[in-house]
Amino acid sequence: MNFIGGKWSWPAGAAKLTSRNPADSRDVLGVFPDSPAGEVDRAVQAARQAFPAWKRCPAPERAKIIRRAGEIMARRKAALGALVTRECGKPLIEGLGDVQEAIDMAELAAGEGRRLYGQTTPSELPNKLCLTFREPVGVCGLITPWNFPIAIPAWKALHALVCGNTVVLKPAEDTPLCGAAFVKALEEAGIPAGVVNLVQGTGERTGRALVSHPGLALISFTGSTETGRGVAESCGRSGKRVSLECGGKNAQIILADARLDLAIEGALWGAFGTAGQRCTATSRLIVEEAVYERVLTRLLRQARRLRLGPGLKKGTQVGPLINERQMTRVLDYIALGKKEGARLLCGGRRAQRGPLARGWFIEPTLFAHVTPRMRIFQEEIFGPVLSVVKVAGLSEAVRVLNDCPYGLSSSIYTQDVNSALAAVRDIEAGIVYVNGPTIGAEVHLPFGGVKQSGNGHREAGKAGLDIFTEWKTVYVDYSGKLQRAQIDNS
Ligand code: UN1
Repeated sequence: MNFIGGKWSWPAGAAKLTSRNPADSRDVLGVFPDSPAGEVDRAVQAARQAFPAWKRCPAPERAKIIRRAGEIMARRKAALGALVTRECGKPLIEGLGDVQEAIDMAELAAGEGRRLYGQTTPSELPNKLCLTFREPVGVCGLITPWNFPIAIPAWKALHALVCGNTVVLKPAEDTPLCGAAFVKALEEAGIPAGVVNLVQGTGERTGRALVSHPGLALISFTGSTETGRGVAESCGRSGKRVSLECGGKNAQIILADARLDLAIEGALWGAFGTAGQRCTATSRLIVEEAVYERVLTRLLRQARRLRLGPGLKKGTQVGPLINERQMTRVLDYIALGKKEGARLLCGGRRAQRGPLARGWFIEPTLFAHVTPRMRIFQEEIFGPVLSVVKVAGLSEAVRVLNDCPYGLSSSIYTQDVNSALAAVRDIEAGIVYVNGPTIGAEVHLPFGGVKQSGNGHREAGKAGLDIFTEWKTVYVDYSGKLQRAQIDNS
């Protein structure tokens, strides 16, 4: 169902799509519409109508609704977490983590209602006041992925809303029910009709109609770099703001002086958490030669022990891929890795034992003896595949890490403060972890990447407000006469 102008409805004539559990394709969660352009237009019109009143509503009042939505999600955390796991497959502790990230975001955005600070600054002329305000940009189109099906809608929508924008959300077609559950929390929290609208559908139909709609001021998109580029092109033509959060090919460096137990635990969590389907996932491991063999042996031993299974089953550590297409894509990359001459240490196959055959599972996969120019070391795979490269030391490690088109997250394990700080300085990425894995960003810090991982914007944190606001600069001259800047004071 869509949510437009405060009402839930099914768009007339829209094709019916089905949401299924990726761990068991017989488990149907529900149906949802592939909304056509006319329905997107209805949502945009509702959001435009609601905009002036929402913009004038004091920010602390807007924040109260956001805070209530956070409280509702907190009360429902167990059920929402299970829904996330059932719809996108990740293990239940991660499903609950996804919901917690949305709750955290509600707390952050609600607090912003009593800040949204501007600046005051002295004028170059006497008896003149200079100040700035943040103002909303208008109607925002939000296109969100399936891997954080509640958290990412929350990152985008809650910041947009506290700033006074109205929104049209199009959640991923793999996780429409999670998108709806998030919107339901806002509805129950008392969001006025038209301020938040939900249109379900595919990227090709509904997403495309949203991106090209002339009534929107902004598109905020999270997804693949390739799709993101198309979105930016279309936004450029219609003069919209656009914020892109795209792919990653994140690397973890392990230096010889690292605590190897922690480094390996971190690599396994970073690579195989969410079955590698995070834009922050660790897909490259860069290991100093003195410990390379030792790291491989231990990594292999522990990777083999990871428990693959449905996310709702107790003890599962690695869930399924999101759908068959994605599973096939990852298997193609594994075949490519073998062809390129990398050595497959473990995994590499679809897991089909017993009930696993009903889902899209791939065994945790490790490639060793990878060289930096191999495609498996350069391209985003988005699956449970980790490629290991051997380097001589810190400077080669950083060079190899940077020699890649992406720059979202990164990590270095070392006990040496000088090495750690040199890496923090030299790594080309939006996020650097020292002695922590590449995943696990917190909502009150800026999130985003450099190079092909984005287009220069950040989500979450205070920086996340920037895309959703325009600055208004105000000069007040109380001198009682004409004062000319650059002339009367020169
Ligand atoms: C994503 O994969 O798009 O840092 C977001 C993390 C999570 C967010 C990931 N908090 O891994």
